[in-house]
Amino acid sequence: MEPRVLMALALVVVAAGVPAVLCQTNAQDAAALEGLKSQWTNYPLSWNSGDPCGGGWDGIMCTNGRVTTLRLSSVSLQGTLSSSIGQLGQLTYLDLSFNINLGGPLPAEIGNLGELTTLILAGCSFTGNIPIAIGNLRKLGFLALNSNKFSGGIPSSIGVLTNLLWLDLADNQLTGSVPISTSTSPGLDQLVKTQHFHFNKNQLTGTLTGLFNSNMTLIHILFDSNKFSGSIPAEVGTVSTLEVLRLDRNGFTGAIPATIGSLVKLNELNLANNKLTGSVPDLSNMTNLNVVDLSNNTFDPSVAPSWFTSLTSLASVSIVSGSLSGQVPKGLFTLPTLQQVVLSNNQFNGTLEITGNISSSLQTVNLMDNRIVSTDTASYKKTLLLAGNPFCAEQDPNNRAFCSRQLQNASPYSTSMEKCGSAQCSDGQNVNPASCGCAFSYNGKMVFRAPFFVDLVSSTPFQLLESTMAAKLNLLPGSVALSDIHFNSDNYLQVQVKLFPTSGVTFNLSELTRIGSSLSNQIYKPPANFGPYFFIADPYAPLAVALGGKKSKMSTGAIAGIAVAGGVLVIALIFMSLFALRQKRRAKELKERADPFASWAAGQKDSGGAPQLKGARFFSFDELKICTNNFSDNHEIGSGGYGKVYRGILGDGTRVAIKRADRNSMQGAVEFKNEIELLSRVHHRNLVSLIGFCYEQGEQMLVYEYISNGTLRENLTGSGTYLDWKKRLRIALGSARGLAYLHELADPPIIHRDIKSTNILLDNNLKAKVADFGLSKLVADTEKGHVSTQVKGTLGYLDPEYYMTQQLSEKSDVYSFGVVMLELVSGRQPIEKGRYVVREVRLAIDPADHDHHYGLRGIVDPAIRDAARTPVFRRFVQLAMRCVDESAAARPAMGAVVKEIEAMLQNEPDDAGAGEGDSSADPSANEFDRHRGGGPPAHPYSDVEISRGSYAGDGASDYMPYFEVKPK
Ligand SMILES: *[C@@H]1O[C@H](CO)[C@@H](O)[C@H](O)[C@H]1NC(C)=O
Ligand SMILES: *[C@@H]1O[C@H](CO)[C@@H](O)[C@H](O)[C@H]1NC(C)=O
Ligand SMILES: *[C@@H]1O[C@H](CO)[C@@H](O)[C@H](O)[C@H]1NC(C)=O
Ligand SMILES: *[C@@H]1O[C@H](CO)[C@@H](O)[C@H](O)[C@H]1NC(C)=O
Repeated sequence: MEPRVLMALALVVVAAGVPAVLCQTNAQDAAALEGLKSQWTNYPLSWNSGDPCGGGWDGIMCTNGRVTTLRLSSVSLQGTLSSSIGQLGQLTYLDLSFNINLGGPLPAEIGNLGELTTLILAGCSFTGNIPIAIGNLRKLGFLALNSNKFSGGIPSSIGVLTNLLWLDLADNQLTGSVPISTSTSPGLDQLVKTQHFHFNKNQLTGTLTGLFNSNMTLIHILFDSNKFSGSIPAEVGTVSTLEVLRLDRNGFTGAIPATIGSLVKLNELNLANNKLTGSVPDLSNMTNLNVVDLSNNTFDPSVAPSWFTSLTSLASVSIVSGSLSGQVPKGLFTLPTLQQVVLSNNQFNGTLEITGNISSSLQTVNLMDNRIVSTDTASYKKTLLLAGNPFCAEQDPNNRAFCSRQLQNASPYSTSMEKCGSAQCSDGQNVNPASCGCAFSYNGKMVFRAPFFVDLVSSTPFQLLESTMAAKLNLLPGSVALSDIHFNSDNYLQVQVKLFPTSGVTFNLSELTRIGSSLSNQIYKPPANFGPYFFIADPYAPLAVALGGKKSKMSTGAIAGIAVAGGVLVIALIFMSLFALRQKRRAKELKERADPFASWAAGQKDSGGAPQLKGARFFSFDELKICTNNFSDNHEIGSGGYGKVYRGILGDGTRVAIKRADRNSMQGAVEFKNEIELLSRVHHRNLVSLIGFCYEQGEQMLVYEYISNGTLRENLTGSGTYLDWKKRLRIALGSARGLAYLHELADPPIIHRDIKSTNILLDNNLKAKVADFGLSKLVADTEKGHVSTQVKGTLGYLDPEYYMTQQLSEKSDVYSFGVVMLELVSGRQPIEKGRYVVREVRLAIDPADHDHHYGLRGIVDPAIRDAARTPVFRRFVQLAMRCVDESAAARPAMGAVVKEIEAMLQNEPDDAGAGEGDSSADPSANEFDRHRGGGPPAHPYSDVEISRGSYAGDGASDYMPYFEVKPK
């Protein structure tokens, strides 16, 4: 046998299946986006090139060329919202939250977005009225306009949005009353599905009469810090789902309706700072009540209510100025979870007894300005405030501590920085508690509007907050820092949050929007005892630095100066280099295109000169960086032992998959050069082809054509296209052809080594393409025609003979291919529930099966059960079983497999749109035979050179020959 070299391709699992999206953005949508851009500065850089729906624009997602998602949270957008937003007729999700420099009026055209289900503009600077047209958004489920500068009234048209679950208008400058429906106009009383009414911190007036009814399913009513008046409507007591009721800081008058006592699910009741009269309400049935505040009203004088000692869930009781008298019931202090008692400015008298089995959580007892004359509190060691009581007037010096008006609370929790010592950062960076390194954290305030606890010292809840945030936001454990924890002037629990990037010193744009929207649309849910929250992000420092960069006329020098001075090199590179370095890069690229390996040869001693390429082109690192938005997470489509795979769009619109080696799996320059030389010569319609590569700045990347329809595995699992029997035959044929080409036509031959259903990709026409995303390993063996190497492959597909002998040959691929054939038959993974499909089929086969399923009725995929009664099915199973023969020698070569499947397809009834199997219509269908010429299988093609013929890209090229044979 002539000396030969076998190539072994080590492939990794690549989940290249991303939903099919068309490259072409609908013209109207494209124009609408241009309209938005025209009024924004500092929009994402990726919006300057490529096709919006092609995956290149940050924050855009599309279906069939229509923009369905626009998500640009926390990206420092600046400007106003163009009325062209109304042209995005298929938009379902719009989140522009936390862009404090995005403002102006909300255009009425927003009402044209009839498909919108989510609208989040929280934390921007929108002004003017909320447009009435918002009532056209009939599908809206989530509306968050909080923390803007909206003024005017709440439009009554919101009352028709009956799908609304979340309505947040808090923290604006809204005036007027809450609209109630009449015979002629809608009102918010009709929102029976809505769970959240967050209207706090506005200037709303009027009464709430008619707003609540028993059909409602509200969980949170947050109406605090407004100017409401009149009495609290009794109907609020019929909203039995209610967990938080905050009506504090308003002008409510009259008695608290007794019905309120029937809200047995309530966790927090806050009616403080109104002008309520009558008696302190009876809350004894509210067995879930944690926090109650009835302070600063004008209740009738009474003794302490009985629920003071019976509501065992209480954590905090506040009734300042409540006209309460008599002795403070000592049973109050023994409630098991009690943390705080604030009963200042009442008329409690007698002896204060904090004795016996007092709550271990108790931190604060404030009884200032009462009439207490003596105490029995020796066993209570935490904060006790008794100033303004007769006891303090007569006190002996030993009691002085109790009689101070100063709260001597221990300092509240904050994330420990102890292990980082005195680490300090400059230039706006912060110390990451996880690594003690410096980075640009994503900062903001998290505000809990009704926490179920008041103790800010205890670390447990806050550490849980840290760990759940890190986990849910996909950050590294410990990379969340909390500080400045306090109850603010609105009696909200406010926490300063810093989130640190998992690698590098900055978050990229897609990470920012991902985190921003996880916090704006409540994807992140804090532990239940934190209650409802909102989050307002601070502008992200590195983006703020880049602000105005788009139209910057700064010189390279100036920008470099800022970058260095600011220490923001990374972000500067991403956001500024495009402009500043464009010219330089162009020149460099031109040079490199002319002689792609000049730098290689110069810079790499072991490179052995420029590779001989056929069709593959050289890409600069910057080029690939831009087309993947700096390798952002949302461009990532797969990963494996080798590194990560990203999708991207080249300047000319070509969609590509980019495989980027990580440090550990880089090869030497010679190996990499051999690799791309080899892959650049491999062109076949059933192989994913290499478009180019990058070898620059210490990176090794391979650029492949992008295959849109995902992996065979995904499609078999039912998450993709339904694959009937004939489609399966065609897929089998296509992948067999690709593999046969590698074995028998490629020079040198290539053993794939990891054939499996996740390495077979399907294009738009369900044409199978064997993926070779991996870097190959060149192994020469001049003696035996097989390669001795470390066993590689995937469990379930692994050739048992190869496994035992470690002798690799093409027949190992044949085995794996046989397993894939059985997957096509059964629809199952090769190993499922401990059963191995090869063994199951082998045992089940029954040629005498009178039911004509060949004994496989229990194994065959129900989706193709009818086809399973045909002779072709039987032949297919028999062929698969020969492929998985224990003995490699007994297995057919791939060329023979191709021929057999071709013959099977010819026996299948014809159908319209025949592609892969319809050999008569496809001039290249028999390419294998044409090239093969019936010669001996060994290696008959060393005398031909296979080069790339016309290649028209995916889809359109079905009837194009993919390569031609030129005699040498
Ligand atoms: C609740 O819904 C029912 C059925 O739609 C309706 O008849 C009833 O009037 C509603 N009750 C209130 C208080 O709105
Ligand atoms: C508490 O529940 C009981 C039993 O359902 C009821 O009789 C009583 O009136 C309720 N008390 C209040 C204050 O709602
Ligand atoms: C009660 O009113 C006083 C005086 O206006 C204020 O200082 C205090 O914070 C209020 N207490 C509560 C619990 O709201
Ligand atoms: C304490 O207050 C109660 C209720 O107002 C009153 O009946 C009682 O006489 C007072 N006791 C003292 C010692 O002042």
